[in-house]
Amino acid sequence: MSSPLKVAIVGASGKVGSFLVQLLKNDPTHFATPLALVRTAEQVKHWKSEVGIDAKLTSVETDDVDTIANAINGVDAVVFAAGAGGKGVERIFTVDLDGCLKVAEACEKVGTKRFVLVSAIMAENRKFWWDLQGLREYYIAKRSADREIRCTKLDYTIVQPGWLTNDDSTGKYVPADKAESVFSDHREIARKDVALFIKEALLHPKETNRKTIPLLNGDVPVQEFVKQLD
Ligand SMILES: NC(=O)c1ccc[n+]([C@@H]2O[C@H](COP(=O)([O-])OP(=O)(O)OC[C@H]3O[C@@H](n4cnc5c(N)ncnc54)[C@H](OP(=O)(O)O)[C@@H]3O)[C@@H](O)[C@H]2O)c1
Repeated sequence: MSSPLKVAIVGASGKVGSFLVQLLKNDPTHFATPLALVRTAEQVKHWKSEVGIDAKLTSVETDDVDTIANAINGVDAVVFAAGAGGKGVERIFTVDLDGCLKVAEACEKVGTKRFVLVSAIMAENRKFWWDLQGLREYYIAKRSADREIRCTKLDYTIVQPGWLTNDDSTGKYVPADKAESVFSDHREIARKDVALFIKEALLHPKETNRKTIPLLNGDVPVQEFVKQLD
């Protein structure tokens, strides 16, 4: 059996990021202790002393690529789950777009090929989001980040969730090839199910590498959902 994967999570203190940290920490057979990349000294303290995992202070906005590369050096995979979270248009571009690209450049620099990005559903469909109240700049950033990542040589998985909820995990999804067609009637996915899928994607690179995968809660259990991506 291969050795446990060491995963760095950018945005580990966010909601999706925290759920993912817990899932990886609870599966020591497949994952080494995860590395949380977070923005404040209090968050570093929380992850190290209260949760008992590795944590490093890293801002994808203010740190340069070399600093981020130093922080992730030695990990097997990086998950970018950070986001500006409604804190202004400028931060949409400095975090969701340029922050993501800096992390990808840092991965290239240290030779970490596996990269999972949390984007947003329908990012490719400009007609859908151009007139969406307050979301135009957000979607410009998400679409542009997705497109840049696809041009890299990284083993990327771009995860495109629908509207995020704090509901309990169902572990079930709409098949990826049906997600955009059902989206007009059904738009939601639990953050816990986004985290669960990311964990499965890390465990199943063959099915998920260099793919863009929309996520909505549906009827297909995660194992079957991943198998259908192959
Ligand atoms: N809301 C939706 O319906 C929806 C739909 C589709 C996709 N998404 C995307 O899903 C992702 C995760 O969502 P979520 O609900 O988990 O978000 P969240 O709880 O707001 O978490 C985002 C995390 O990003 C971190 N962050 C912000 N600026 C940073 C920086 N400069 N450097 C490093 N980290 C930084 C935040 O740190 P602090 O804790 O220090 O602020 C926070 O921990 C986001 O990319 C979001 O755009 C959201």
